[in-house]
Amino acid sequence: ARKIIIDTDPGQDDALAILLALASPELEIAGITAVAGNVPLPLTETNARKICELAGKPETKIYAGAAQPLMRKLVTAEHVHGRTGLDGPDLPEPVMALQPQHAVDFIIETVLSEEPGSITLCALGPLTNIALALLRAPEIAPRIREIVLMGGGFFEGGNITPAAEFNIYVDPEAAKIVFASGVPIVVMPLDVTHKALTKAKRIDRYRTMGTRTGDACVALLEFFERFDEAKYGSDGGPLHDPNVIAYLLKPELYSGRYCNVEIETQSELTLGMTIIDWWGVTTRPKNALVMRDVDHNGFFDLLAERIGTL
Ligand code: BDR
Ligand code: CA
Repeated sequence: ARKIIIDTDPGQDDALAILLALASPELEIAGITAVAGNVPLPLTETNARKICELAGKPETKIYAGAAQPLMRKLVTAEHVHGRTGLDGPDLPEPVMALQPQHAVDFIIETVLSEEPGSITLCALGPLTNIALALLRAPEIAPRIREIVLMGGGFFEGGNITPAAEFNIYVDPEAAKIVFASGVPIVVMPLDVTHKALTKAKRIDRYRTMGTRTGDACVALLEFFERFDEAKYGSDGGPLHDPNVIAYLLKPELYSGRYCNVEIETQSELTLGMTIIDWWGVTTRPKNALVMRDVDHNGFFDLLAERIGTL
C-alpha cells in the first residue's frame, strides 16, 4: 500500500477525504495531522478524531500541529463549515486519544525513518504544518515522494478573495515555501473542485447505504452544499478535498499540465493568489502538476463505492 500522511483542517469536505482514504486498501495512513484553518486547531483535531471513530478506525494516529499560520493571524471559515467546522451530523465527542507528539515532529520523523521516496503528503488545509517541517528539517524534501494538495485557483479565480483560494490565502508564506521546496507537487485547484458538485442525486447514494457513516455523509454533504446553493444559486456545492485522495487512487480521472506556480505574498489585493504559468510565458522552473479537469461522475462513483464499505 502507498503510505500517506493526511494534513487537514476538517471541514466537511476534509471529512469525506479522510473517509475515502480510510476505506481504500491501496493506501496506508501513517498518520493524520491537524492544522488550523476552517476552524481553530482544537476543533480540527477533534473533528479528525470524530471522523476516524465514525469510520470504526480509532487506531488511526492523529497529531495536532500549528494553531496559527507562520506570520499572520488565522482566518477561519465558519461561514462555510459552521461553528464546529463539521456542522451537519450529530457526532459524539471522540474518546480516542490525540497522539502526544507534535504534528510537525511526526511528519519529520516519519519521512526520515521510512524508505526514501515512500511517503506522500496529502494536504487538505493551509500548508503551515508542511512548511514548518520543511523549514525545520530541509533534508526531508528529497525523501518525500509527492505532495498532493487542494489549493489555489487559476482560471476560476478565488473563493475567499477575488484572487485567492482559502487554503493558500490563510498561510501564503507557507504555500510559498512548499512550492519552492523542490518536492514533486500535484495541485487540485478550484478549477477542478468546482466541477465536482454534490447534487441531491449524488447525496442519495449515501442515504441508501443504510450505514452510520452513510447517514453522517448525508448530513455533512447537505450542510456543505447549502452554502454554495444559497450564495450562488448553484445546483450543489463543490466537494474540494476528496479530489486529493481520489487522485492517488485513480489518477486517470484528472488531467492537467506541468507548470510553474508562484504564490503572491506581498500585494494587498491579490494576497495568496496562485500565479500559474499555464502557457509557459516565463522560463521559471515547472514545479507542479496542476490539474484542470476531472471526470466528475467517475469521482463521485469512486467516493460512494468506497465509503459504502465502511
Ligand atoms: C478549501 O478550503 C476549505 O474550506 C475546504 O476544506 C477546502 O480545503 C477550499 O477552498
Ligand atoms: Ca480543507
